[in-house]
Amino acid sequence: MKKSASLLSNKNKFLILGCGFSGSYFAKTIKKFGCNVLTSSRSIRRDPNSFVFNSENGVVPSEKIFDGVTHILSCIPPDKYGNDPVLKILKNKLKSLSLEWVGYLSTTGVYGNTKGNWVSEIDEPNPFQKRSHKRLNCEKEWIESDLPVQIFRLPGIYGPGRSTFEAIKNKKIRVISKKNQVFSRIHVADITNAIIYLLQNKNSLKFYQVINIADDEPCSQIEVIQYCYDLLGLKMPNPILFEDAKEKLSPIAQSFWMENRRVSNKLLCETLGYTLIYKNYKLGLKNCYLKSKK
Ligand SMILES: NC(=O)c1ccc[n+]([C@@H]2O[C@H](COP(=O)([O-])OP(=O)(O)OC[C@H]3O[C@@H](n4cnc5c(N)ncnc54)[C@H](OP(=O)(O)O)[C@@H]3O)[C@@H](O)[C@H]2O)c1
Repeated sequence: MKKSASLLSNKNKFLILGCGFSGSYFAKTIKKFGCNVLTSSRSIRRDPNSFVFNSENGVVPSEKIFDGVTHILSCIPPDKYGNDPVLKILKNKLKSLSLEWVGYLSTTGVYGNTKGNWVSEIDEPNPFQKRSHKRLNCEKEWIESDLPVQIFRLPGIYGPGRSTFEAIKNKKIRVISKKNQVFSRIHVADITNAIIYLLQNKNSLKFYQVINIADDEPCSQIEVIQYCYDLLGLKMPNPILFEDAKEKLSPIAQSFWMENRRVSNKLLCETLGYTLIYKNYKLGLKNCYLKSKK
């Protein structure tokens, strides 16, 4: 990513709340802009820039962690009761800071089932799953918090170390076919780069509070799996019809197949001008494959 005329510099201090797959990718990248970055996890890590935040047992960061914070990115999902862990415990603290920006990673699950039709930010969310109702409530609470928050709705996240290749390697792959079923996806690098693009161009771009970050080509799961087997030079197992497979799927796995939607990225990529690094699963998975070879 270009660093010219950077709005991001060592004057910025980022707290990444929930440094899992997406959070750690973001943290690693934003450091390259010279920003100070502290990251949270639920248990102690060796990294000196990591601190503990765990809403489950009430472990909160010390005051010193918040000194000079300008930006926050929350990657933490709702807790089992549907509360947002960050807002539940830290809302007042966050409101007392001079924050320039807060990012919240949400999911496109809030749109519910569009029966394969395209869905965009102007469509009213219509959650179908209980967890998506909880998520929408968390989004609302972030918006009502009056913090300078921007919500990013994400479809299935993949990237090096978390993709169909790992499922194949760990023998967790299920080749299921369901007619006309598609899924949207996003490579973890595009989540980070899209957010950084928006931050870098904050002064010239209109501010949108809710933005989808998805690639250009929603497609069936089988196409993706087939592509991975082809790259590996292996034969894909015969697909099982969803109707025959569903009894054996966990409730959570079943629930993913109950929704069928194509998530539009036009706001991000056309209106706001972000160029995807990985426009489709082929480019993204090739990257995962090559990284796994190193
Ligand atoms: N994975 C997907 O395909 C997908 C798709 C759409 C949206 N999303 C959403 O996007 C966000 C980022 O996804 P991800 O897959 O990168 O997340 P992830 O790898 O699962 O990381 C989640 C992070 O949240 C922390 N966390 C969880 N519960 C917490 C709590 N009660 N208190 C404090 N910290 C807590 C975890 O701590 P530890 O590091 O200690 O585990 C971890 O750092 C999440 O909200 C996720 O639900 C994910």
